[in-house]
Amino acid sequence: MRLILLGPPGAGKGTQAVKITQKYDVPHISTGDIFRKNIKEGTQLGKKAKEYMDKGLLVPDELVVAIVEDRLKEADCKDGFLLDGFPRTVNQAECLDKVLDNMNTSLDRVINIKVDKGILVGRAVGRRICRDCGAAYHVEFNKSKVEGVCDVCGGELYQRNDDNEETVSKRIEVYLNETSPLIDYYFTKNLLADIDGEKHIDTVFEDIVLALGSEN
Ligand code: AP5
Ligand code: MG
Ligand code: ZN
Repeated sequence: MRLILLGPPGAGKGTQAVKITQKYDVPHISTGDIFRKNIKEGTQLGKKAKEYMDKGLLVPDELVVAIVEDRLKEADCKDGFLLDGFPRTVNQAECLDKVLDNMNTSLDRVINIKVDKGILVGRAVGRRICRDCGAAYHVEFNKSKVEGVCDVCGGELYQRNDDNEETVSKRIEVYLNETSPLIDYYFTKNLLADIDGEKHIDTVFEDIVLALGSEN
């Protein structure tokens, strides 16, 4: 199954991606995670990406598209993949169409997680991430069993650099201007499945499974 997870910052893309990839056995490709890994490792790419990410701006298309193209050509993507946070501009979406076309394949579904703007800031600001395995928690809505410690691997939980109120507001603005046109883009292609992302995490996942019901 070839899927895209679309939605504003804090909508729950990463949270649902973990569940989807477990159930459907496809690799989870998050461009944000790829950039954060590069920042952690101090690579050239990481240094460039950080300049944009810390301001809540999009990393330039030419940096992002090549990374995703290479990743999609890896063997584990042969039978499917889940893209989380890519594409984020119409140009990225058009590039992705070309890449998939060249690989003689195409998308099956685009899951659009909808959450009201008023809820997003609180979700992102309260998020905590595991330094070691990347698992995401929330100080109120999805607490770890022991404060500051990851349930999965015992790693230390931290707050992302861009999860402060000011940067989150900027990211939401950037989403509305640059990414939300993709909703129409994929609706027109008859690929869009709208999901109410304001329900409980488990209910959101059930709705996604229902929406994917007819796919194989
Ligand atoms: P990225 O890492 O993709 O961040 P984002 O899109 O802003 O989305 P988030 O990861 O913040 O939110 P999410 O939807 O994954 O929510 P989560 O599940 O964690 O990108 C970061 C930056 O990288 C960008 O700003 C940009 O600079 C750059 N970048 C990345 N991709 C790019 C691209 N293609 N092009 C250019 N630049 C790119 O959930 C959030 C919180 O809410 C968690 O605490 C969670 O526990 C909680 N939560 C989740 N679901 C629920 C629920 N149903 N109820 C209550 N709480 C919930
Ligand atoms: Mg995420
Ligand atoms: Zn962990």
